[in-house]
Amino acid sequence: MAERHNIEVEGSKVYLRANTGEWFVYDRNEKPLGSGAMGTVYFGRSCQDRYNMVAIKRVAPQIAEIPAVRQRAKQEASLAFRHRNLIEMVGYCEEYVDEGPIFIISRLVQGVPLNKFVEQMRNSPDWVNHICRCIYPVMDALTYIHEKGIVHLDIKPSNIMVENGSNIRLMDLGIACTSKLVSSGNGGLLGTAGYAAPEQYIQKGQTDISFKSTTDIYELGATLYDLLSGTKPYSDNPEVLKPIPGVPKAVMKVISKSLEKFPAKRYQTAAEFKRELMEAASGKKTGSASRSSKSSSVSSWLIPVLAGVGFAAIIVIILILFL
Ligand SMILES: Nc1ncnc2c1ncn2[C@@H]1O[C@H](COP(=O)(O)OP(=O)(O)OP(=O)(O)O)[C@@H](O)[C@H]1O
Ligand SMILES: [Mg+2]
Repeated sequence: MAERHNIEVEGSKVYLRANTGEWFVYDRNEKPLGSGAMGTVYFGRSCQDRYNMVAIKRVAPQIAEIPAVRQRAKQEASLAFRHRNLIEMVGYCEEYVDEGPIFIISRLVQGVPLNKFVEQMRNSPDWVNHICRCIYPVMDALTYIHEKGIVHLDIKPSNIMVENGSNIRLMDLGIACTSKLVSSGNGGLLGTAGYAAPEQYIQKGQTDISFKSTTDIYELGATLYDLLSGTKPYSDNPEVLKPIPGVPKAVMKVISKSLEKFPAKRYQTAAEFKRELMEAASGKKTGSASRSSKSSSVSSWLIPVLAGVGFAAIIVIILILFL
């Protein structure tokens, strides 16, 4: 058993010393911010600076006992990533080293999950474009983590938040892992059913488990499909991707490519996926877009010049007639 005691309880207040040494507090009588597969999330503050607001996820005890999950929780909390479209991790707190309750602390995001945010969008004009625009920042966040050799593995609408009504943040690096290897254990699903790629279903005893960015590409495609249609892809027929009414064919084609069964057939990078989706959603190729902006910049000076020349010609004709 361990050396250090990192949790103090005073009435309903729970004080936690994070692995960084900083103390945080939350009130267990206050309504939690939410709860998910891993546990319950509470609003908390730093004890040094009360304006430093955090979200404290108390990992459910039966899950915290599983060494692999505990290790992943600690790994998640230690990811020191800084990107405007990515959750900022603060640290973790465990009562004793590798024992007792474990808490994951992240910077508080004041906002709503993306699935709630887009609910009203589906009735608005240009809704496909609007929903796609919510996904582009997630693609930027993915490009950032993939370049660092990390895959997320749990991308879904409820794990994306809209902060203060505008900024998009990808949450929950909970099962993010280095793309090299995670231990197979008893097999099962690494991710969330309905969004997970085929390769996330692990066989019992399977040892060759490694994920690439293409797994996140699949999950992102599934997330976009859900945001546009309100249903998960392949929910009717696992072999056929049902077209979404009102979504242009070009956009459906991009989504289908991201949802290919074989990773090699999908987009290989989030940046490539973003480029193709932007072209399809705006209805024009990037090349033609730049051509049209070039021609509009030509017309922006040509028209006033021609108008000026025409005006001068009229003045000259009037002068000739009257003088
Ligand atoms: N950093 C945060 N800032 C604000 N709210 C948060 C934060 N982290 C989590 N939440 C809230 O807590 C809720 C529960 O989060 P949690 O990650 O535990 O579950 P989930 O995302 O719904 O499901 P899953 O466990 O499968 O990821 C979220 O829906 C969100 O509203
Ligand atoms: Mg979550």
